[in-house]
Amino acid sequence: MKFRTITNILWLLKNHRQIKNWKKRNFSPPSPEFLKHQIIQNNNIEESAWIETGTYYGDTTKILSRISSKVISIEADQDLYELAKKTFSNLENIELMFGRSEDKLSEAFKKIKTYKNICIYLDAHLCNDHIKNKKTFGEEKDATPIKKELKFIEEQKDNFNKINILIDDIRLFNNKFQNYPKKDYLVNWCKENDFDWEIEQDIFICKRMK
Ligand SMILES: C[S@@+](CC[C@H](N)C(=O)[O-])C[C@H]1O[C@@H](n2cnc3c(N)ncnc32)[C@H](O)[C@@H]1O
Repeated sequence: MKFRTITNILWLLKNHRQIKNWKKRNFSPPSPEFLKHQIIQNNNIEESAWIETGTYYGDTTKILSRISSKVISIEADQDLYELAKKTFSNLENIELMFGRSEDKLSEAFKKIKTYKNICIYLDAHLCNDHIKNKKTFGEEKDATPIKKELKFIEEQKDNFNKINILIDDIRLFNNKFQNYPKKDYLVNWCKENDFDWEIEQDIFICKRMK
């Protein structure tokens, strides 16, 4: 059997459960992790630093560390942060920060100021910890810090040549769930700040080039 065929079979075995569950949900969002990770990789900018908000168990952080020389991930839940510290103790290109993204983004941006290009994955929000089966950091009324995160990025955008921002869980942006604004809010923010935008699966993607 050819090497490629074996690789494909291994890939199917690894992702079989995710695909099966997705099919059961009639392929509705959220899409499986492997697809989300592929979209993230496809939207990487060469020689860019990555900032992720919401480390959680670090699954995306790990993927980012393979495509970028510098990854900063911010987590507000202390237990998850401590766990990620241990998990990534041997990966020098990952820097973890403890705190709320809206408070820590300023410090994070200072750490990557030598980079001309930046990619940002905004995924900090209240969610259910699937292992401990309890809520992670946050409260319903301010479950997502997205507006504050975007406000901060707006002030920093001119310091970079290229910026890609990936905002996860776009299905929740309907002004009816927790404090998520409508999709219009993101579209208007892009227009006002000279970003192009598109949606891939459950991710809203904003792109800007100087
Ligand atoms: C959906 S999970 C992140 C998943 C992760 N990015 C991944 O792709 O595997 C959301 C995480 O954001 C964290 N969180 C919630 N509010 C936050 C905030 N204001 N700042 C930073 N992290 C926050 C939660 O504790 C949780 O771990």
